[in-house]
Amino acid sequence: MERKGFLRLSGYSITSFLMLGAGNLITACKKMGMGNMINAMPINVIEGNFTEELHMPPIVGNTSTLIAQAVIVPIAGIGVTKALGYQNQMLLGPTINLSLGQAATITLINQLNENTNIHWHGLKVPANMDGHPDNVVASGGTFNYRFSVGQRAGSYFYHPHVMGTTAKQVFQGLAGLIIVNDAEESALKLPSGTRELALIIQDKKIVNKSIDYSPTMMEQMTGFMGQSILVNGIYSPIQFVETAKYRIRILNGSNARIYNLAFSNSAAFSIIGNDGGLISEPEVVNEAILAPGERLDIIADFSTLSLDDEIYLMSKIFDAGSVQGKQEFKILKFKVNSKVTDSFKIPSTLSSITLLSNGMALRTREFDIANKNDNIGMSNMKHTINGKSFDPNRIDEKVSFSSIETWIFDNSKGSEPHPMHLHGNSFQVLSRTGGRGSIMPSEKGWKDVVLCMPGEKVKVIIPFNSFTGKYVFHCHNLEHEDNGMMAQYEIL
Ligand code: C2O
Ligand code: CU
Ligand code: CU
Repeated sequence: MERKGFLRLSGYSITSFLMLGAGNLITACKKMGMGNMINAMPINVIEGNFTEELHMPPIVGNTSTLIAQAVIVPIAGIGVTKALGYQNQMLLGPTINLSLGQAATITLINQLNENTNIHWHGLKVPANMDGHPDNVVASGGTFNYRFSVGQRAGSYFYHPHVMGTTAKQVFQGLAGLIIVNDAEESALKLPSGTRELALIIQDKKIVNKSIDYSPTMMEQMTGFMGQSILVNGIYSPIQFVETAKYRIRILNGSNARIYNLAFSNSAAFSIIGNDGGLISEPEVVNEAILAPGERLDIIADFSTLSLDDEIYLMSKIFDAGSVQGKQEFKILKFKVNSKVTDSFKIPSTLSSITLLSNGMALRTREFDIANKNDNIGMSNMKHTINGKSFDPNRIDEKVSFSSIETWIFDNSKGSEPHPMHLHGNSFQVLSRTGGRGSIMPSEKGWKDVVLCMPGEKVKVIIPFNSFTGKYVFHCHNLEHEDNGMMAQYEIL
């Protein structure tokens, strides 16, 4: 098939694309190169009517029980839907509220008919408590996750981490937020109570009244995406607000979808924190890209709006050199229902962060994440790190405890975005060359996921100072991760 005809298909659905038949598809794919193949795939978000009110997940404390189970939930605008959750008749899990220094015991009861476990994404916990893919809880089993909270205040993420089924379980609803508090943050008196919102943004594909997880070969490659954008499990929700400043924590809990977050009136907002808690000073921006697994903590200022004004949190178009970012869509509606005066001012200093520099690193490791797929047929496509697919029996990197290293994620020859995530420790982003060419305002401070767009080489600096043991690092596009784009490191 000639290339021009093939690309013309980009206006059609995936289904018509697949009607070509797998054989033709693979041949065509080999001929034209994976990169172009990926560019040819459209995924369109379908917005709802923004009438269902947003709500926050229930809050639980440091001693609680999560029951992984099948749930049937009504999703307004979509209908009654089969999904997974950690609590009765609810998509997602409760928000776990923790304080620095506290001891936590979280019990997981597995009522699924397959293995599951929980990874405490962003928390620094002992290796045997981290939800390593080796440590699973069998169907019918129970496990007590015990750790002490040695983590600065911030928004973290919990989800299953079973090799091969992480993507499916997360997509079907197993995920939740962890909020850690500490004295440094409390002293700032940031907006709280009804002026503090926490949003888990996820795209879902719903077919036959179930959250459908059945990626095609192509969707394994690009990552699985859905047409419906849910916030805290609610499709196209509305949030009523006062004319005041709000603290909004945002987690991108999607498997693969990247958002370029902005407000529909183009209003500026202040980034006050991200993956690892508060950054040192607020960064004022008009948009911010958020990849799967990344968190953002912002102050949105609704004080200049009038009664009944409506603005949307939306995702704007961005360049990801791939199928992503080509469509603009609305995520959440804010509507002003009360005029008040608000005296809150964003502190000019938020937290103190010791900046690490190149010279402090003992050594540098380089990881090729480009996955030079372009000449490989789809049938044997694997996502890799340094050309290797995840092997639980292989230790890829050995690191000395309490050393500092720089790691380079090299996607300079790649054609897909890869949000790279490290377990067990957090890092600072030192540099980005190629692509966007610089560190984004949302990437200051402590991070545990860094987005490497096609063409980019990103350097991070990591102090390995939390625990010894075996941890993993991987691409947080969960299809890529389940497909093998994960490696293991041991801290000795
Ligand atoms: Cu949020 Cu290893 O993952
Ligand atoms: Cu993690
Ligand atoms: Cu990836």
